[in-house]
Amino acid sequence: MVCLGNICRSPLAEGILKSKVDGSKVFVDSAGTEGWHQGNPPDQRSIDVAKYHHIDIANQRSRKFKASDFNEFDLILVMDKTNYIDIASKAESESDRQKIKLILDFSPNTYSEVPDPYYDGKNGFEFVYQLLDEACEIILSKI
Ligand code: 4NP
Repeated sequence: MVCLGNICRSPLAEGILKSKVDGSKVFVDSAGTEGWHQGNPPDQRSIDVAKYHHIDIANQRSRKFKASDFNEFDLILVMDKTNYIDIASKAESESDRQKIKLILDFSPNTYSEVPDPYYDGKNGFEFVYQLLDEACEIILSKI
């Protein structure tokens, strides 16, 4: 799960997908295209919205996406098109590039990108949660 800062959207996406999969079979992680918040926990608003839905993401720590992640992961789910461009620029092969998908491509809703809620106040986080939960439910049925 990849977003820009790895403190708002992708930690939520990680927590939501982890809550749905068998952790002994599927490894879920998240990262940011930038390392500004490296080592920090998720934004308190993401922690709160996850907690409201009975998911604990407080122990996650932000990290920056690295080229070796292409070797570690089968699927790299990005939140928006800018994330896609940033991650695709690090791909060293066509098979790396094909691992990158916009997470909402898995969802039937009309949004193609998960909006960045960082500057949004609190309401944006519940909306992001709903978008991600719907997409993760479909991803679960495909992996
Ligand atoms: P995220 O949100 O990419 O969903 O984690 C952001 C977090 C931090 C910043 C921007 C977006 N920032 O500018 O620090």
